[in-house]
Amino acid sequence: MTKANNLAIYPYIVYCSQAVQHMDKEALDKIITTAKHHNPRFGITGLLVFGSGIFFQWLEGAGET
Ligand SMILES: Cc1cc2nc3c(=O)[nH]c(=O)nc-3n(C[C@H](O)[C@H](O)[C@H](O)COP(=O)(O)O)c2cc1C
Repeated sequence: MTKANNLAIYPYIVYCSQAVQHMDKEALDKIITTAKHHNPRFGITGLLVFGSGIFFQWLEGAGET
């Protein structure tokens, strides 16, 4: 973690990717369920947006686990 002007900055990654298959609600729910299960264990938080066949994801974490 870096500190700049009392603002904590965690390592992060931001990317876009195109789904290679049709993503229905069930498939999206599966990703969210998996992320909710795994991410907290590794101190990872994030944001996942899906629209028009494209994912946008922001992931950040302390990078120490
Ligand atoms: C766009 C996208 C974002 C994902 N984000 C996470 C995540 O934040 N955390 C995680 O543990 N898995 C994440 N996954 C992995 C999936 O949740 C999981 O591996 C997948 O649903 C398993 O599918 P399978 O059984 O068909 O391999 C992501 C997958 C995709 C496609």
